[in-house]
Amino acid sequence: MLNDWFQNHKRDLPWRADPTPYRVWISEVMLQQTRATVVIPYFEKWMRLFPDVATLAHASLDAVIKAWEGLGYYSRARNLHKGAQQIVERFGGEIPSTREELMSIQGLGPYTVNAILSFGFRKRAAPVDGNVTRVLARFFAIEDNVCKQAVKRKIAQGAEALLTPDEPWVTAEALIELGATICTPRPRCEICPLNKNCLGKERAHLLPIKNIEKELTQLKRAVLWIEAVGKVLVKKGEPGKIMADLYEFPYFEMEELWPIQKIKKAILAEFGLKPQVIGQGPQVTHTFTRYKATLFPFKFRLKTPQEIVGYEWVEQNNLSKLPFSSGHRRILHL
Ligand code: ADE
Repeated sequence: MLNDWFQNHKRDLPWRADPTPYRVWISEVMLQQTRATVVIPYFEKWMRLFPDVATLAHASLDAVIKAWEGLGYYSRARNLHKGAQQIVERFGGEIPSTREELMSIQGLGPYTVNAILSFGFRKRAAPVDGNVTRVLARFFAIEDNVCKQAVKRKIAQGAEALLTPDEPWVTAEALIELGATICTPRPRCEICPLNKNCLGKERAHLLPIKNIEKELTQLKRAVLWIEAVGKVLVKKGEPGKIMADLYEFPYFEMEELWPIQKIKKAILAEFGLKPQVIGQGPQVTHTFTRYKATLFPFKFRLKTPQEIVGYEWVEQNNLSKLPFSSGHRRILHL
């Protein structure tokens, strides 16, 4: 029933054509935290740039990060690159087909491993992400907190039990599709193929029950565009830090909006520079992990670039070729 519904209603998505283990792996990692419509052009470009595991493994990390620019959570891109290198070193460039081997690859967790086993190798496995959890918490009317390990296990077992014996990979993807298109946070139970058997349909809008989310920490940052003879001062995020491998302009953390005099003093104290103020841009908000940063851009000009440890002067024309964090990229385009 669910399988029939999926065959008749599934969206036409590029990774569903020719679901090789490699294409499943890449698409599923892109789809974590990102909607399918956003992923499509990234996926298509990725497959042109890195059509197989070996090409990805031998690409530069900068090229991989650049192809990911805008998708966020860049550790996913670094893990794909590292994972591809591990597959070349340990499995001769072929994505392995057992749970144990897949779990040994960097960045692969139970969800992605099950997706690869199911869609890529057509094995019996149920990938359960947040959307599928929502579908199943409703279908089985699970009133417990779905963030608890024991409840997660129960949901994973429920998902497995629903897989049909002959085409388990179809049911597995149907559950994902249902969560993305019908059993959404605001559910459309009237058109749901499972509405006859759904135990939670009267309470669907109240399920699943989750931990209350932590509030985002608010940040205010003065972001400095400092130019000198056509070059602009930027910094590449350090490995292991939040913005690793992404470029940003220099910035100061402020408790409240600083007057321009205070910003000039801070530039002198931090960088030993005395640039001239030439303007101020509109503020930009940027949300990442558990922070919401409001960026206040200030524009300065200096007669000659001076070397500053940890920073680079980059030709203004070349800035757009670098991968920037999304907030700073918006400032670049202002
Ligand atoms: N989200 C996660 N996996 C997906 C898939 N295979 N198709 C559509 N959306 C998804």
